[in-house]
Amino acid sequence: MRLLNKEDIVKVFSMQDAVESVKEAFLLYSQGKTENPLRTKIPAEKYGGNLLFMPTYAEETGYASLKIINIYPQNISKDRPTSFAQVVLIDAGSGEILSILDGTYVTQLRTGAASGVCFDVLGRQDARIGALIGTGGQAETQLAAMVSVRDLDVVRVHDISKERTTAFVKEMNEKLADYETKIVAADSADEAVEDADLLITVTPSKEPVFDASKCKKGITISCVGAYQPDMQEMDPAILPRASKIFLDSKSAVLEESGDILKPLSVGIIKEQDITGEIGDVLAGKRKGRESDDEIIVFETVGIGMQDLITAKAIYEKAVAEDVGSQWN
Ligand SMILES: NC(=O)c1ccc[n+]([C@@H]2O[C@H](COP(=O)([O-])OP(=O)(O)OC[C@H]3O[C@@H](n4cnc5c(N)ncnc54)[C@H](O)[C@@H]3O)[C@@H](O)[C@H]2O)c1
Repeated sequence: MRLLNKEDIVKVFSMQDAVESVKEAFLLYSQGKTENPLRTKIPAEKYGGNLLFMPTYAEETGYASLKIINIYPQNISKDRPTSFAQVVLIDAGSGEILSILDGTYVTQLRTGAASGVCFDVLGRQDARIGALIGTGGQAETQLAAMVSVRDLDVVRVHDISKERTTAFVKEMNEKLADYETKIVAADSADEAVEDADLLITVTPSKEPVFDASKCKKGITISCVGAYQPDMQEMDPAILPRASKIFLDSKSAVLEESGDILKPLSVGIIKEQDITGEIGDVLAGKRKGRESDDEIIVFETVGIGMQDLITAKAIYEKAVAEDVGSQWN
């Protein structure tokens, strides 16, 4: 079995690779070619955490996987990571466990790549201004994905913690210097969102983190954080203005995400207002952006297939380049 830590993965796998993997994952998923049961969630109420188990199988890939990801939001105040994860990659032909991959990094890559796919497929081609709300564990790969699919002049970053925003902006200007996009701190969400062509929200918030009235025509919004019914980052007022609403997985979002469930429950939108899954656009079954003025919203809660296809692609590259360490 091959053990692949973050350092190993960085050696063989880029954000562009992740975006291509997640495109494949969304396409296979929306074509119904995957076994992707809803994740099993066991609340660890005493500790304010959630234990999550995500099994998945895609026959035509020859692989299956299980991700274990434990989300403990209160850890941030103890200066500890808010999630711990591993991905187990399985040879579906023999059942052999082939690899254990750093699940935290695979999650960051494939979650960032979901926004990357969203902007690549649905964003205006001439997008110049990006906005990012949230600077926690997922934020770096979100930003990397955003700048890797569009040639942006500036990305404005906002977080309720000014200290984290300042540190994040400094670090990202160094790490993503090759993209020549200026990354700047915004004192408020309004300042970040003004004139933005692309917007990512990636927080565990239970209240909307931006004001829809500040969003301009033509914006593409990727909402990443709200994976439970009581969570909500998206200002629901954006939904009636949006010409298209895409999801990563209709069944998962309608089970889990307050961003969509809350507006549905109070009648701001109806289920038929949901355009479809992003995989439908990749399959050519639905139209993506048809004009520069359209407001398009994408909601992602994350599906096991993203982990499977990303882990498979990393593993195959690691084998080809003999990266990682052997166990057993
Ligand atoms: N869609 C997916 O596939 C997927 C995958 C992994 C994580 N997530 C979710 O994404 C969210 C963010 O994950 P993370 O690991 O970066 O979390 P984190 O806890 O590490 O960081 C969250 C950041 O959001 C900031 N924040 C909170 N409320 C805010 C607000 N109202 N305005 C601005 N900033 C605010 C916090 O200060 C913090 O810096 C979580 O809810 C997580 O469960 C989604």
